[in-house]
Amino acid sequence: MRRGQAWISRVSVRVGSKPAQAPSFSIVVRRTRNLFPTWASAPPLAALPKVARPEVVAKAEDRMEATESEAGPEPGPEDADEDRPAPSDGSRPRTDEEALIVVRDLRKTFKTGLLKQKVVDAVQGVSFVVHRGEIVGFLGPNGSGKTTTIKMLLGLIAPTAGDASMFGHPIGAQAARRRIGFLPENPYVFPSLTPREFVEMSGRLSGMSGKHLRKRTEEVLDRTGVLYAADRQVRRLSKGMLQRSALGAAMIAEPDMLILDEPMSGLDPVGRKQVRDIIFEERDAGRTIFFSSHILADVEALCDHVVILRKGKVVVAGSMSELLAGDVRHTEVTLAGVDDALREVLEELGYELHARADVTLLEVKGDPSDVLRAALEHGARVVEMVPRRETLEDLFMRQAL
Ligand SMILES: Nc1ncnc2c1ncn2[C@@H]1O[C@H](COP(=O)(O)OP(=O)(O)OP(=O)(O)O)[C@@H](O)[C@H]1O
Ligand SMILES: [Mg+2]
Repeated sequence: MRRGQAWISRVSVRVGSKPAQAPSFSIVVRRTRNLFPTWASAPPLAALPKVARPEVVAKAEDRMEATESEAGPEPGPEDADEDRPAPSDGSRPRTDEEALIVVRDLRKTFKTGLLKQKVVDAVQGVSFVVHRGEIVGFLGPNGSGKTTTIKMLLGLIAPTAGDASMFGHPIGAQAARRRIGFLPENPYVFPSLTPREFVEMSGRLSGMSGKHLRKRTEEVLDRTGVLYAADRQVRRLSKGMLQRSALGAAMIAEPDMLILDEPMSGLDPVGRKQVRDIIFEERDAGRTIFFSSHILADVEALCDHVVILRKGKVVVAGSMSELLAGDVRHTEVTLAGVDDALREVLEELGYELHARADVTLLEVKGDPSDVLRAALEHGARVVEMVPRRETLEDLFMRQAL
C-alpha cells in the first residue's frame, strides 16, 4: 500500500429490529498513513533527521487516522513492515502522545517587491519532533529561518508547503494555542501599559481573573526579576526589562508548552541566569520548552535536544548527549617553569607554545605523554591538563556556517 492510497477496511450491514425497517449499510474507508494531505510530496520517513524519530511520526499519523476513521486503528500492510528503530540516545522510549510538536517538510517562500518578483526561500523543508518534557534549542545563524518556522507553528503566518501539528492539532488550531505560552522575538507592548497591566491583560486573554490573576501576576513578575518596576510605564523600561515582562506574560497562564524566540536577548548576565533557572524550573514543573537562541553556552547548559538550521534547512538535529559525545579532540596542557631547553625540546616535537603570564600553554592532539615526560625531565611543573571534547560551539561553527 502506497502513501496517499486508501482501502476499504470494513463493510457492515445492519438489519433493523422491526420488519418494516430497511437494512443500513456502512462502509469504512481507511486512508494510509497520511496525516496531512499536503505531505504528498514529503520525503520518506527514513529521511527525517534523527530528532524526528520515524516511529513517533508514524504513530502520530496513525492516531490522527484513528480519530478520522470510525474503524479505529488497524494494522495496515505498511505498518507491519515499518522499520521503527528504538531511540538510540539512551533515553527511555517515548510514546506518540509525547510528540507535542511534529513538523513535516515545512516550507515558506516570501515574495516581496512591488511585483512580488523577489523571492526569499526562508524555510526549505524543515522536519523535526519535540517531545513532552524536553528542552529543545532551535539554533541557526541570522536569517536561517528560526522565527519564520516559529511563526508558522503558531499559525501567525501560513506555510507555503508542508505541515505540522501541535498537541495533535493542525497548526494554528485554537485548542493547541491555548496550551502554549509564546515569547515573540520583538515583543510589542503598548507603551502606556505597565508590566503588571500587560501581564494581567495576557492572563485575562487566557481566561484568568480576580485574586488568582493578581497573585499569579505578582509571582511571575517576581520570577522574571521585574517586580520592582511592575508599575512603571513600559515606555520607561529598558529592553531587558521589557523582555522580562514579556516572558512573564508568556508564563502567566501556566501553559503546557513555552515557545520562546530568543528569550535571553537583551538580558544582562544576571537576567540570563534567571531565565536559565526559569527554563529548568518550568521543565521540572512538567512543561516542554522550545526556544531559539544565539547564546550557545546557554543552549549547551539547558537543552536535551537541539535543532540547527542553516539557510532554511535542518543541518543538525539530535540529543545533546549524542551530538557532543565524540572522543577527546585535544588536551590543553599548562606548564610552569619552562626554561629555554624545554622550550626547544617541545618545539622540536612540533608543539606551538603560548606564554601567558608565568605559565606556558600548548595544545596536544593525541597522547600527551611525550610532553609530560619532557616537562618532568626539565624540572617544569604541570599546572593543568584539560581534555577538550567537541562543544556546541564547535559543532555550530562546523555545521551551521
Ligand atoms: N515578512 C518577510 N518578508 C520577506 N522576507 C522575510 C520576512 N520575514 C523573514 N524574511 C526573510 O526570511 C529569512 C529568515 O528570516 P528569520 O527571521 O526566520 O530568520 P532567523 O533565523 O529568525 O534570524 P535571526 O537569528 O536574525 O532572528 C531571512 O532571509 C529574512 O529576511
Ligand atoms: Mg529570529
